Amino acid sequence: DTKIWPVDPQQLSPGALLEAAACLRAGGLVAFPTETVYGLGADGLNGPAVAAIFTAKGRPSDNPLILHIAAMDEVAALTLDFPPLARRLAERFWPGPLTLVLPASSLVPPVVTAGLATVALRMPSHPVARELIRAAGVPVAAPSANRSGRPSPTVAEHVREDLWGRIDGIVDGGACDFGLESTVVDARGEAAVILRPGGVTPEMIEAMGIPVQPFHAIGRRDAVAVAVQGDERPAPTASIQEDFVPPSPGMKYVHYAPQAPLYLLDGNREEQRAALRRLLDTAAAAVKGDGAGEVTGLLLSEETFREIGRRLPGPGDDGPGDKWVVRLTGSREDLTTVAQGLFGAIRSFDQTPVSRIVAETYPPVGIGRAVMNRLEKAAGGRRWLG
Ligand code: TXA
Ligand code: MG
Repeated sequence: DTKIWPVDPQQLSPGALLEAAACLRAGGLVAFPTETVYGLGADGLNGPAVAAIFTAKGRPSDNPLILHIAAMDEVAALTLDFPPLARRLAERFWPGPLTLVLPASSLVPPVVTAGLATVALRMPSHPVARELIRAAGVPVAAPSANRSGRPSPTVAEHVREDLWGRIDGIVDGGACDFGLESTVVDARGEAAVILRPGGVTPEMIEAMGIPVQPFHAIGRRDAVAVAVQGDERPAPTASIQEDFVPPSPGMKYVHYAPQAPLYLLDGNREEQRAALRRLLDTAAAAVKGDGAGEVTGLLLSEETFREIGRRLPGPGDDGPGDKWVVRLTGSREDLTTVAQGLFGAIRSFDQTPVSRIVAETYPPVGIGRAVMNRLEKAAGGRRWLG
C-alpha cells in the first residue's frame, strides 16, 4: 500500500520527513512536492531503486532522470566538470526551477542518465523537498510523479490518481507554486541552450548577459525548438520520431495528454474568439436539431471566458447546456496563474464526459513559452481551425 505523509511546508514535521527519507534510503519510491511539480523520488545512487521508478511510471528507459540535490557542494562528486556558464546559472537560480545538464561522473548509475555521458542536476527550493533530500543524505532521482504521458501532478491527489499502490509513499505538502516543470539548460558551452522551457525564462538568462541559443534538433527538419524561438505556430511534436535524435530524450515523447484529444485554437486572439463563437453557435444548432452531439471541453483563460461565456447556455437550458465543460487555466494578465492552473485543469477533464477539448493559446514570451510548450505537447499537433 501507499503511505501518505501530510506535511505543512510552513511548519515541517520532522517525524514524517525522517520516515519518508528512511524509505528512500531503503530503496523505496516516495513522491514529494517541489516548487515546480510533484516528483517521484528514489535514492539516485541506487540503480535498482531508480529502475523501479521507470516501472512505476511506465516510463521508457531511454528517458533520463534529474538528480535532485540539497547543497552546491554535492555537484562535484556527481560531475566531471562544472563549466563557468553553468556555474553562474546555478549561483543565480539555485535553489529553484532550473535543471543543468553536466558531464556525469562514474558515481551516477547509468539507469539515471539512460546511458548518456551527461547528468541533469537540480536543487529545488521547496522547503519539503530540500529537507527530504537533506534527510535522505543522497541525491534523489526524480521525474515528475505522473504515469508516463499524463500531465504532471501539481497536488498530491494527482499523484494518488496515477500511482496509488505502485509506490511506497506520498509526502503531501499541498499545491506546487509554479505548476510546470523546471527549465532544462545545457550551458556547457558558450551559450545557454534551453532544452525545455520553464520558470527560468530565456529573458532572465539573457538579462545576465548570457547568450541563449535556440535549440536546433539534430537530424530533423522542423524540430521541437520553436518554444525557444517564439514561433507562434510550432511544429507538431506528436509522435515518437524514429529519425529524430534529440539532445534531451524527453523531447520525442507525447506528453501531458488528457484522455480526450486536445486541439489548440488557431490564429490570433480575435480569430480564436470568433472560432469559439462559431463553435458554440454550430453546436447549439446541432443540439436543437437532433439532441445529439459531442460534449466539448473548453480550456480558457478567465478573460476569454468572460467574453464568450454569456453565449454558453447553462446546464439544463434548453438542451445544449450539458454539451460543454469549461475549465479555467488562469488570467492572461498574469501568466504565472496560467502556469499554475494548467495541468490541474487539463487533468480535470478526465472526470468529465468530454470527447474533445479546445484550448486557447497564449503569447509565447516569458513564462508563456513554457505554457505554450506544454500545450503544444498536450495537443500533439492538433489544431482547431474552426
Ligand atoms: O521540475 C522538474 O524538473 C520536475 C521536478 C520533480 O523536479 N522533474 C521533471 O522530471 O520534470 P522529468 O523526468 O519529468 O523531466 C526531466 C527532463 C526530461 O525531458 C529528460 O529527457 C531531461 O530532463 N533530461 C534528463 N537528463 C538529461 C540529460 N542528461 N540530457 C538532456 N536531457 C535530460
Ligand atoms: Mg515528466
